[in-house]
Amino acid sequence: MKNDPFPEDIVHQVAEHIRQEGAWGGDWIPVSRSRPGSRDASPSDERARSVSGGLPRVQVPVRNLDAAGRGEARAALESVAAEIARCNLCGLHAGRTKTVPGDGHPAARLCFVGEGPGADEDRSGIPFVGRAGKLLTRMILAMGLERNEVFICNTVKCRPPGNRTPEPSEIRACLPYLERQIEILSPDVIVTLGRPAMQTLLETDAPMGRMRGRFSQYRSIPVMPTYHPAYLLRNPNAKGDTWKDLQEVHAFLERDPHETDVSPDEVTADSDPGTPEKDPAPEEGQGNLFG
Ligand code: URA
Repeated sequence: MKNDPFPEDIVHQVAEHIRQEGAWGGDWIPVSRSRPGSRDASPSDERARSVSGGLPRVQVPVRNLDAAGRGEARAALESVAAEIARCNLCGLHAGRTKTVPGDGHPAARLCFVGEGPGADEDRSGIPFVGRAGKLLTRMILAMGLERNEVFICNTVKCRPPGNRTPEPSEIRACLPYLERQIEILSPDVIVTLGRPAMQTLLETDAPMGRMRGRFSQYRSIPVMPTYHPAYLLRNPNAKGDTWKDLQEVHAFLERDPHETDVSPDEVTADSDPGTPEKDPAPEEGQGNLFG
């Protein structure tokens, strides 16, 4: 995609291009637009932006909780995760390798809610670590945040077989866990990724096209619905819309900086889930996000 708002690093871009061109019989290599370290990016630009072309660093990335408050939130999230690990409320428990409760900063101001674990997540117990997860990480960086400053979770915490869309009964069974996670986190803003997360939290049957691009509310918390990264991998032309949505979220975080008495330097990263090498199976169709 030209002017991709969530670019992979240059090595990945070239490798991916060669892979695709090899398959299609092409013989050209594109020249990327400017990147950090290139002559047209000044050092101050590089400090202010997480990625080339990305938004300025969010000034207050996490809530101003003291160590005790963070510890309490972390313990409460761990207790929900422990319950999830024992859960057998729906049939999904039978096929899981690991439960995938969620991961991130216990004082995150921004919480992402996806659909459900895919193969990589089922193996690792960490949300969004496959191909779609790598794109989500680039989206977060482009928003001027680090992945370990946000919280990432899913509508269902066990992998649906064959990565099908979770059934309404499975989503209903799992919803109390998501509700408790959101209550503990008390984030300033939620971004739902894809239709199931949007329809669940906003209790709507409306299509994505009607809901995305503007804030709705879940229990007084602003919610920005946007496309699922797996959908964006298949439909790169929709990345521009998602980029607009994420820019709105960035503007919201900067407009309403919560408790600004904490300096960005005091903010510590609590976890870094990393990105395992293995990708999930190929993703197909908006209704089958993980492939
Ligand atoms: N897709 C999701 O919705 N969640 C994940 O954790 C991974 C892929």
